[in-house]
Amino acid sequence: MKQDDQQQVPTSVIIGATSALGQAVARQLVGAGHRLVLCARDESKLKVVVDDITIRSGQATVDKGSDASGVAIQSHVSDFDAIEDHDALVDLIAGADNFWFFYGTLPDQPECEANWEASAAAFHTNFTSAASLLTRLANRLEERGHGSLVVVTSVAGDRGRKSNYVYGTAKGALSLFCQGLRNRLASAGVQVLTVKPGFIDTPMTKAIEKTPSVLWASADQVAADIIHAHERGKDIVYSRWFWRYILFIIQHIPERIFKKTSL
Ligand SMILES: NC(=O)c1ccc[n+]([C@@H]2O[C@H](COP(=O)([O-])OP(=O)(O)OC[C@H]3O[C@@H](n4cnc5c(N)ncnc54)[C@H](OP(=O)(O)O)[C@@H]3O)[C@@H](O)[C@H]2O)c1
Repeated sequence: MKQDDQQQVPTSVIIGATSALGQAVARQLVGAGHRLVLCARDESKLKVVVDDITIRSGQATVDKGSDASGVAIQSHVSDFDAIEDHDALVDLIAGADNFWFFYGTLPDQPECEANWEASAAAFHTNFTSAASLLTRLANRLEERGHGSLVVVTSVAGDRGRKSNYVYGTAKGALSLFCQGLRNRLASAGVQVLTVKPGFIDTPMTKAIEKTPSVLWASADQVAADIIHAHERGKDIVYSRWFWRYILFIIQHIPERIFKKTSL
């Protein structure tokens, strides 16, 4: 790789690098030549991911015909619930170009109904902590005038349903927050991409029956959709694509009918 090429290699920070989706995106980005910074809370799981991606980065470099022996993958251990640590984390990562948010929890809805603390914890992880990191990163990117924020929310945030409205509320709030950020950062040349996946076969959904199978996607398929949308400068992407139409219908069912359904 020539020096000029090296200077143009983008750096991507994966926030939630031990997630199945984060790993799939990291594998595809490193294959495309990105430098990576991987962040997650579990040090031993993160080490496994870093080792895997480091090996792949060497293979990707060789595939591209370079004599370099791979790119060093940086990593940072952080529990994103700890908002008091966010300034320090952002100081470590803010020099990168692209920030990809992949962490989250899928709370047990009946437990959230019985116990406010469970709902509050889900809101904190899925919305408050992400909004805190996004606020800090947005200020850096706005000042610099380039970069991107890629944030995974969910189709569950498009309409409240009894089966998962606590998770849906947190993801819906995050989608709205990203919409406002996008409006604010557009004039600064910063891309904010909201990703709304439907069902993905990952550890998060291991307890859910995978039927009908046609509605389920692999982490690799969703990762490819996200990277494609990012490259094309999109604002919002549903993955797989058909969820856009499913949610269009769901959003347009009148409330007096919708409230009696069991979706
Ligand atoms: N799977 C789906 O059907 C689906 C659908 C729509 C949206 N999503 C969203 O897609 C994203 C990726 O999820 P996934 O499906 O790939 O699930 P996953 O493999 O279970 O990943 C969830 C990740 O979140 C991390 N995490 C949770 N709380 C954290 C905290 N406080 N600090 C740091 N990391 C934390 C977990 O870390 P540990 O490894 O340490 O536990 C784990 O790596 C999530 O935002 C999820 O809400 C998933």
